[in-house]
Amino acid sequence: MSTFTPRVFSGVQPTGNLHLGNYLGAIKRFVEMQDSHECIYCVVDLHAITQDRSVWGGPKELARSTREVTAAYLAAGIDAGKHIVFNQSQVAAHGELAWIFNCVARVGWLNRMTQFKEKAGKNRENASVGLYAYPNLMAADILAYKATHVPVGEDQKQHLELTRDIAQKFNIDFADSIAEAGFGDAFFPLPEPLIVGPATRVMSLRDGQAKMSKSEPSDLSRINLTDDADTIAKKIRKAKTDPDALPDSKEGLAGRPEAANLLGIYAALAEAGIEDVIVQFAGQQFSKLKQDLADLAVEKLSPIAGEMQRLMADPGHIDAVLKDGSSRARAIAAPIMEDVRRIIGFIG
Ligand code: TYM
Repeated sequence: MSTFTPRVFSGVQPTGNLHLGNYLGAIKRFVEMQDSHECIYCVVDLHAITQDRSVWGGPKELARSTREVTAAYLAAGIDAGKHIVFNQSQVAAHGELAWIFNCVARVGWLNRMTQFKEKAGKNRENASVGLYAYPNLMAADILAYKATHVPVGEDQKQHLELTRDIAQKFNIDFADSIAEAGFGDAFFPLPEPLIVGPATRVMSLRDGQAKMSKSEPSDLSRINLTDDADTIAKKIRKAKTDPDALPDSKEGLAGRPEAANLLGIYAALAEAGIEDVIVQFAGQQFSKLKQDLADLAVEKLSPIAGEMQRLMADPGHIDAVLKDGSSRARAIAAPIMEDVRRIIGFIG
């Protein structure tokens, strides 16, 4: 059995409107992994351009969003000195390994990807080839570093399953050459998705059945990481509710998506278990939960927004962080890619 050193990799797209779902489902959890693991956190700018230019905003906006995601990483508490923070386009291994995975993954596998169907919409013929092959690039992101653990929100689960399928198929397809090169029975690890906690799927504040997302037209549907205190409080005050008092058990949340969402957000921000938060608000009206949630959200998010603003005022510093991170990322990926080329039979 091949064994792999534990290593964390994850990424966020620079497509504007970083929101509470990105924070609670991903970035906050990136921060938590730092004490126990070696971590690599990426701003996935190559992924951003898979959608129409109107979505990612063009070159100037892409650069701004790349800096903004970096600022969010740093403001949330990621230590770019101890760990690696960089942008995907600066490490050629991602594109190279993605091409190889285009030749490992099957069309049938990609045809099952629900995110492609959602993002391509009705006009699938007109989607970019990049959007279709997106999950292969994501597998390359992770496996170029032989990462073993990937903290993500619930919506990335299917992509992580595909990553494991690709790793496994590569290990099987090239088993002879992998063994010959001295890597035992597996060259790539099968990375584990880490989808845990009360906020793996934060829902829209306007509709408890829809995911909080960057692309929802109504800004009231999400709390952006750059929102000021008044805006956060206003959005929570206006959040959709139902007419009943809050339940006293988890079972009582069945069929009440808005209550489940607000309590889940509260639990994640308070770093408490959902059961404890249910007990705390049992029998109360939504107005009480909203008031307490607004106070808590402002307390936890305002310092991040403030720090992001401070960092964004010094783009030179952010660019230097990305440059340093890119060169350290390249140093990890380069020998892995040399092995990949040798295993496949590319002469170099
Ligand atoms: P992206 O940029 O859409 O989202 C970044 C992270 O935020 C999580 N997330 C949420 N979590 C909880 N509730 C929500 N409403 C919510 N919305 C978003 C996402 O699950 C994700 O963890 N394909 C990825 C980026 C990526 C990546 C990777 C991730 C590219 N390569 C390699 C991990 C490893 C994406 O589009 O995330």
